[in-house]
Amino acid sequence: MSEKQQRRLIAVSNRLPIAVDRDDQGQWQLTAGAGGLVTALAPVLKHHQGMWIGWPGCGEEAPLDSLLEGFADKQGYSLATVPLSQEEVREYYEGFSNMTLWPLFHDLLGHCQFNPDHWRTYVEVNRRFADVTAGTVGDNDLIWVQDYQLTLMGVRLRELKVKNPLAFFLHIPFPAPDMFRRLPWKNEIMQGLLSYDLVGFQTLRDRRNFVQCVREMIPNMKADIRRRTSTLHEDGRSVKVGHFPISIDFNEFNRQARSKEVADAAWYLHEKLSRRQLVLGVDRLDYTKGIPERILAFERLLEKYPELHRNITLLQVVVPSRTQVPEYQKLKEELDQLAGRINAQYGEPGWVPIHYIFRSLPREQLLAHYRAAEIALITPLRDGMNLVAKEYCAASVDGNGVLILSEFAGAAEQLGRAALLVNPYDIDGTADAIHRAYHMGAEERRDRMRRLRASVQRNNVHRWVRHFIDSL
Ligand code: ADP
Ligand code: F6P
Repeated sequence: MSEKQQRRLIAVSNRLPIAVDRDDQGQWQLTAGAGGLVTALAPVLKHHQGMWIGWPGCGEEAPLDSLLEGFADKQGYSLATVPLSQEEVREYYEGFSNMTLWPLFHDLLGHCQFNPDHWRTYVEVNRRFADVTAGTVGDNDLIWVQDYQLTLMGVRLRELKVKNPLAFFLHIPFPAPDMFRRLPWKNEIMQGLLSYDLVGFQTLRDRRNFVQCVREMIPNMKADIRRRTSTLHEDGRSVKVGHFPISIDFNEFNRQARSKEVADAAWYLHEKLSRRQLVLGVDRLDYTKGIPERILAFERLLEKYPELHRNITLLQVVVPSRTQVPEYQKLKEELDQLAGRINAQYGEPGWVPIHYIFRSLPREQLLAHYRAAEIALITPLRDGMNLVAKEYCAASVDGNGVLILSEFAGAAEQLGRAALLVNPYDIDGTADAIHRAYHMGAEERRDRMRRLRASVQRNNVHRWVRHFIDSL
């Protein structure tokens, strides 16, 4: 282990791996946090016995000390919390993070709102996260800030004269200059990102977009471009920039997917859907995930290839997300309506074309779904990486699943050769890819899945951390 690898890791992210809220009886409870960031970071923090700083999903009113008692002993890493008031959640999290940066960075300008009040609260909350971090950090710690909600933390940590190495990783895409320029606070966000020692992106494309923005906005900054990282210099300060595709704990997913419980659950799931092929979609409820487009592609498949009626079923699992943001509420209504319409048109006694589940699944069930599905249909309009794609490969222990993947998911950079790549806006093309997957012979299926699994196994989440920290 290198000297850098031995430093204590302080990860700071908006969301912690747990959320504190009230149950139906009004009692405080702990629930698991959702999303790709939590899936990826939890095994890393465990491995490094570090500390995780973030918002616990509640404000000051919750009895956090008693709820979190014993957490460090059980999980192997400790937590520090940054409670947020309801107004802060509305303006910093739902507002600037998820109605401005999120759609803008996913190239969906039509979904963006630019609200100065949201911006002001975003600045304040970033300062608070930095203040809590500065109060917790030890001399030998490495501070690793995660994602678009916290771009400005580095500026405040520098003001506070924190001397530890400061790194930042962006889990979502970084847009091209023409898109980034629309942001009224682009200079502040850029200065925020340049305040870290190392800035990591998911893909080479994101890193290039960022360097291109720097070149346009700060012409004096010099860029020394290398294969793995580039270094940007200006007035004696330098920032490293690299791309580090995030991943999952392959061995853990692979091991759990082979368990008897998962095998039984997968068998049961398929038995209920009799002998037809199962096409699986698993996503957070988010307009970037391309769920309506995917359902329309499935409808097109049924229209174009009637011989598949009764022989194929789409199982779409959606986990509720950002439920207070109006765009997400609209999407939920749209999905209910679409699935209902298509089932009414094509369904027959004994065959429901689309099964639509709106809830989070426990890990064992999720793995059973992955194992049971002959085809995974993962078609985001834009995605930083998409860990579901990697989880599907790790859990396809029978080796016969086909991955249909959007060319606009970060994961396509690594998995694009062995997956069937589609443009999610091309409804006909996606329908044809499902048709091709349905008819794909056993040998081709196995060969493709073997290559996919090898890629995810090699490029696992522990390698991601090693590469990132070694670049610092
Ligand atoms: P994002 O970070 O945008 O949420 P990712 O695909 O990278 O997207 O990560 C999503 C994570 O959430 C994965 O680890 C996946 O297993 C988990 N997840 C998604 N949908 C569900 C669900 N219905 N039940 C349980 N976990 C889910
Ligand atoms: O991947 C982007 C991201 O915002 C992560 O930070 C998080 O894991 C996931 O999406 C879920 O989002 P939220 O924390 O807003 O529920």
